[in-house]
Amino acid sequence: MTVLDAHELYRFYHNGDEEVLALRGVSLSVKAGETVVVVGPSGSGKSTLLACIAGLDDPDGGVVTVLGKRMTRRPERERAALRAAHVGLVMQSGNLIDGLSVEDNVRFQRALARDRLDRGGVEDLLTFVGLSERRHTRPGELSGGEYARAAFAAALVNEPALLLADEPTGEVDAEAERALLDLLDRRRVAGGSALVVTHSEALTSRADRVIRLHDGRILDG
Ligand SMILES: Nc1ncnc2c1ncn2[C@@H]1O[C@H](COP(=O)(O)OP(=O)(O)O)[C@@H](O)[C@H]1O
Ligand SMILES: [Mg+2]
Repeated sequence: MTVLDAHELYRFYHNGDEEVLALRGVSLSVKAGETVVVVGPSGSGKSTLLACIAGLDDPDGGVVTVLGKRMTRRPERERAALRAAHVGLVMQSGNLIDGLSVEDNVRFQRALARDRLDRGGVEDLLTFVGLSERRHTRPGELSGGEYARAAFAAALVNEPALLLADEPTGEVDAEAERALLDLLDRRRVAGGSALVVTHSEALTSRADRVIRLHDGRILDG
């Protein structure tokens, strides 16, 4: 089953006279249970690609479907609803609400997609990522590794069909990276799909597939 299909995505930015071709016809798909890693140099379009797939941004051309439902060229509200129902998102920053504790951040994400898990589900997830002792802590007081694990817990609490993560191991230590790898393995076993932008060799070595982006295009091979 195809969970994500991105077809011929184009995204252009304009700064005065300058035109930046951030995505130039990117197509990819991710099946159920697949973990796909995206690599590429800085500025190659990785974050733009994830934003277009997540429906945070709308591409200038091309179509994204998640579980057969079109994400592109729909009103913001419909994109948000589709995202809440099927997509877990870990961006490079701004994943957690500063005024809420770790636990309330996770519960808030769950509330966005309506109550689907019982209280035990949240506790189990916080324990799995090793944050049960830090559940009442505010995001600003977490270490980089703890923050990343909390962001993943918030992204995964609704058991989304598709997890999107943008350099999730960028600023975390080896221990936190292992926790994230364990989370991805657990998802894979449960049939969840993931599309992850990363420089981590450990993560890349566990991927089913690696996609290389360069100047807004996918490199062959
Ligand atoms: N909001 C924006 N306005 C103008 N240019 C942008 C914007 N976002 C990204 N870009 C440009 O698009 C290209 C791809 O950026 P990005 O997707 O962030 O790459 P990556 O995540 O691979 O580093 C870069 O040249 C970047 O400068
Ligand atoms: Mg980026």
